[in-house]
Amino acid sequence: MQMSRLRVLLVAAAVCAGILVAGAQSASAEDNGVAATPPMGWNDWYSVYCGVNAQLVEQTAQQMVANGMKAAGYDYVNIDDCWMASSRDASGNLVADPTRFPDGIKPVADYVHSLGLKLGIYEDAGTTTCAHFPGSLGHEAQDAATFADWGVDYVKYDRCNIPYAEFPGQSEEQVQEMLYSRMSNALKATGRPIVFSMCNPDLGDDPWQWGAPISNLWRTTEDIQDNYGSMLGNFLGTVNLFADAGPGAFNDPDLLQIGNGGSNLLDYTTEFSLWAEMAAPLIASTNLARLTHDELGIYENPNVIAVDQDPLGRPGVPISRANGLWVLTKQLSSGGRSVVLFNSTNTAAAISTTATAVGLPNGRIYRLANLWTNAVSQTSGAISAFVPGHGVAMFTVTAVGKRHLPDVPPHTVLSLAAASPRLGPGSSTTLSESFTNNGVSNVKRLRLSLSAWPGWLIKPLGRVNVPLLGPGKRFTVAYRVTAPSSGPALRISIFTGRASYDPPDGRHRDSARLGELVASPVTPALSTADVTTHPALFGASGPNLAISARGLGVFNPPYGVAPTDSYAAIYKPAGARRASTAQVTVTADPAGGVSGGAGLIERDDMSKGKQSHAAVVLYVSSNATIVIAWNGSGGTDVDQHYGVPSVTVRAPVGLRLVRRGSSYAGYYSIDRGKTWNPVATVTVAGSASLGRQDVGVFHASGLSTWMTTATFSDFRVR
Ligand code: GLA
Repeated sequence: MQMSRLRVLLVAAAVCAGILVAGAQSASAEDNGVAATPPMGWNDWYSVYCGVNAQLVEQTAQQMVANGMKAAGYDYVNIDDCWMASSRDASGNLVADPTRFPDGIKPVADYVHSLGLKLGIYEDAGTTTCAHFPGSLGHEAQDAATFADWGVDYVKYDRCNIPYAEFPGQSEEQVQEMLYSRMSNALKATGRPIVFSMCNPDLGDDPWQWGAPISNLWRTTEDIQDNYGSMLGNFLGTVNLFADAGPGAFNDPDLLQIGNGGSNLLDYTTEFSLWAEMAAPLIASTNLARLTHDELGIYENPNVIAVDQDPLGRPGVPISRANGLWVLTKQLSSGGRSVVLFNSTNTAAAISTTATAVGLPNGRIYRLANLWTNAVSQTSGAISAFVPGHGVAMFTVTAVGKRHLPDVPPHTVLSLAAASPRLGPGSSTTLSESFTNNGVSNVKRLRLSLSAWPGWLIKPLGRVNVPLLGPGKRFTVAYRVTAPSSGPALRISIFTGRASYDPPDGRHRDSARLGELVASPVTPALSTADVTTHPALFGASGPNLAISARGLGVFNPPYGVAPTDSYAAIYKPAGARRASTAQVTVTADPAGGVSGGAGLIERDDMSKGKQSHAAVVLYVSSNATIVIAWNGSGGTDVDQHYGVPSVTVRAPVGLRLVRRGSSYAGYYSIDRGKTWNPVATVTVAGSASLGRQDVGVFHASGLSTWMTTATFSDFRVR
């Protein structure tokens, strides 16, 4: 999914030249007359997977009416995989599963239509769908006619089980293009306007290069998970493709996970904002009946929806991304721009741009509307915000002329920055709090303050108030801050800065929060190892250990991808004798991906990662199963694994690894060590476990985009 070098250069050139209008794609866009703006709706997949049925679809349609989503613009109710019977009927027609859809699809479509909504369905270009129900290969016209007959308004078309060998001399992409064109034409031939959504997101598929003339949307990235790292990965895989999309044909970074419980409101707000800025489809894939008030508020934010649905249909363009701090600008039909300042890092930071940089004319005053807070302000050009890690600030910006708007307060920013983002217990750093007036009028009676969690000492190093701060001016206060003398293994302490001031329309208050990491040092009896590509953090306090790390993990990933060995560990050098037992309790494991996790690891040289013989890992995986993975072949990678079937666990989980030479028996406990259940006894290749080994605890977030913190207690080896 990498952009070619030429493409990168072209994109860079377009941005440098200030050409912020996305490409020339629209001339060749799908002309089926639907999806002039990105589709909005619901899809069952990430809430029930193969659990779809008529009742769920109809109840969801009712909820969309009752909860305001229909009024907010969500109109497609989409059925994903698993709706079919396992074979076609005698005439080769698709049949709905008689248990899930006892009366077939048509009455469900009729019901959905009666509520003023539309119905979507799922099929596959191969012999079977991803869940192994009949695919459309060789039945394209027949299936398209069936869908039209049922009253289907949207078809998601997958790419599993395409028999590429039957198309000699053609690349996989050529075959896909041919098969997807077949279905596209078949749908058009029915005469019913049907949104055609291509789902071919595998590595090496570049559907954005050929999708526009035949489809309304195409997946850009792999299946999204409900965690920040996966959301970020899909954003990164989509954001550079802005020139390929436009009205009738959009990039699809996958369904929205908002409400599925794996992320917090901040992350969900970011997902929604980024999707809207990229002109992505807004399709909620969650149980609507269980949405909280705040989650529904994200789905129904009219300002952000208006950006996504802007009639120009232009995706936002990234104009800067240094250090993970992104600025995106999207051209709007009003002549204004929607601007997203996205902090993809873990630490709050100020992000700034200007009205001219986002594509507005020079020499004006600009009106800034914050799309999440609804605050309106005016600026002489600077657009900036102090954005929490993982967070966004999202504005629409319009040029209003040369005279300022007397009733509109100035655009101001309160920000915090620490000289050192990490401290040991009892140590000090300088923290500065700055307030900037980007507006065109004065700020009066400005007063700043700073507070922290109990145990911190805070001393201002100068005055904290000024009577007047003119346009373009900044006021900064430095503080000496000292961490509590003891604390947990790793902790993020939150500082809150506050500003109060008088703009023309009365007293205002702002606040800003910054996390400061305090790590208690790992005791000398233990060592640390980091074989990830991003610095990991370690902490130890009493019986507790903590590791913050990215990394894909230690176990061999699926799909034939090479093992990665990317993790961070706290370990006892040469601590595992040939007859020894290691034990730990995993107290938190927030990993994601396919091979992230937290647990025990024994290998010849912990700090050498891939260069060292890998022996064995026993861990709680990203999907809450217990996995043992080991080196069975004698190479340097873990190359076999076993997960305890039908067992999912919640921290705290005890893990125990008993070594006898090259044989390792794994156990787990979910009752605080009262009972130990066997996982498996595995034999590691002799060459991979000759003598003493390093033994310890490891953590990998499971994604290269995401840092998570796992905690452990009572690690011991005997
Ligand atoms: C693939 C797709 C998903 C979903 C499933 C259904 O994984 O990428 O979006 O449709 O198939 O089996």
